This record gives sequence, C-alpha cells and structure tokens, in this order.
Amino acid sequence: MNPSSQLQSAAAALARAGRVVCLTGAGVSAESGIATFRDAQTGLWAKFDPQELASQEGFARNPGLVWRWYMDRLHWVEEAQPNAGHYALAELERIAPDFTLVTQNVDNLHERAGSVNVVHLHGSIARFRCNRCAKQHALQPAEREADLPPRCAVCQGLVRPDVVWFGEMLPQAMVARAWQAAEAADVALIVGTSGVVYPAAQLPYVAQNGGAFVIDINPEASGLSTMADVHLAGPSGEISPRLVAAVQNARTA
Ligand code: OAD
Repeated sequence: MNPSSQLQSAAAALARAGRVVCLTGAGVSAESGIATFRDAQTGLWAKFDPQELASQEGFARNPGLVWRWYMDRLHWVEEAQPNAGHYALAELERIAPDFTLVTQNVDNLHERAGSVNVVHLHGSIARFRCNRCAKQHALQPAEREADLPPRCAVCQGLVRPDVVWFGEMLPQAMVARAWQAAEAADVALIVGTSGVVYPAAQLPYVAQNGGAFVIDINPEASGLSTMADVHLAGPSGEISPRLVAAVQNARTA
C-alpha cells in the first residue's frame, strides 16, 4: 500500500470505530521541544542516560543529579506548548464516540491541548511525594533551584517526582483503565513510542488480540510498526492532523 492509501485505510477504520484507545509516548511531545528518552539527547544532559537517572538506584547514588534533571525537565515542560499532534488527538476525542488516551508521558501537554479522558501510566512530573512515606509534597520556588531534593515534612525522607521509575509498579488504577479501554477497542492508535517499555508496550497487543485494528504513527519503524495493520511513517505533528482531517471527511462522506 502506498502512504496515501495507508492513511485512507487508517482513517476509514477510525471513522467506523465505536471505541478507540490511543497510546502515546515521548515522540508526541518531541515537536514541542521535550527530549525523548531513546533518541539522541542534546544539551546539558547529553552525557547522561535517562534510564540511569529514572531509577531508585540512580536516586540513591546521586539524589542531587536526579533532582536537577527532573527540575530541568519540569522547566522544559512548563515552557513547552502543545503541538499540532496533541491538538489533533484532542480533536479525535471529540469526533470518536468513545476515546481513551493512554500516555506514558509525564507532561500535561495532552490536557493543555484539550484532551479530557487521559490516563497517565507513568505519573506526572509536576507532582511530588516522599520517597519513603509517599506523602504528597507541594514544591516551593526555592526548591526548584536547589542542588538537592527537599526533605519530607513528616518523616524527613527525600522528596521525589511522582513519576514511575524503572523497576517500579505502575499506578494500578491507571493500568486497569488502560487495559479495559484496550480490550474493548475497535481501533488502537499508537503515536510516538518506541514500544520497548512494559507493560505500556503490551497495550497494542491487548487491543489487537481483542480484534482492534492497529495504527502506528512514528517517523521510525519500531516493533509496534511491524505488528500494526498500518504504519504511518512521519512526525506526529504532521501525520496526526492529516489523519484526523481524513477521518472527518470519511464520517461526512
Ligand atoms: P522513547 O524515547 O523510547 O521513544 C520515542 C519514540 O518517538 C521513538 O520511537 C521515535 O522514533 C519517536 N518519535 C520521535 N520524534 C517523533 C515525532 N515527531 N512524532 C512521532 N514519533 C516520534 O519514548 P517512549 O516510547 O515514550 O518511562 O518511552 C517509554 C518510556 O520509557 C517513557 O515513558 C519513560 C522511558 O523510560 C519511564 O520513565 C518509566
């Protein structure tokens, strides 16, 4: 199939779908200037491996380094604006009868673009909690600039971002919502994920086993592009708006 007929077949499946589950990853926010995890890193953090920083071991080894990395990422997220890909997915939610957006991203760009039914599998970079007793912590302006993480007001443990690190459990209520949506989906739309981090990467397979048509949007081919019925090769900010426009056309035709 040529790229244009692939787009049309993806749009036809979405236009027919009652229930859509969408799985997004760091690639969706790349065009907003937020670095992905596995594409080449740029700038200050180029020499650090995010997988080393996003872990309990990394935090124990060097809490200051991990804190500074997350404070920088928080700053980038706050400065960033949603891009055309985020807006297209919010539009798709308005068109589809039932739409669940499951994201691995810890930014809030989907919500800022207008998405409503959003499931965050990996937590939020703008929330904080104690690494020891889990009490929520309200971040103070001076703490953003500090070289070390703040201490918990209750137990004096170190405060950390409320995100899921490697080797940690995902929030079970979020996993349950995501799995329900995948099992019931007519179409699974995957956007901007390398599909190498589990259990999130399993979601398209859960949907496919339940009979869903699977569409992958990614400039690079991944394992998920291979299992998908259609791989739309290109950046989310270009492909997603074209796809959603084609869905709108198909629904009014
Ligand atoms: P990755 O960095 O692993 O993958 C980003 C994917 O986005 C790659 O497949 C790129 O080809 C693709 N990509 C890059 N630019 C794109 C664009 N403009 N449009 C569409 N796709 C683009 O990020 P994730 O798959 O999200 O977990 O990584 C999954 C998880 O691993 C993250 O949530 C994080 C990380 O470690 C935790 O922190 C627990």
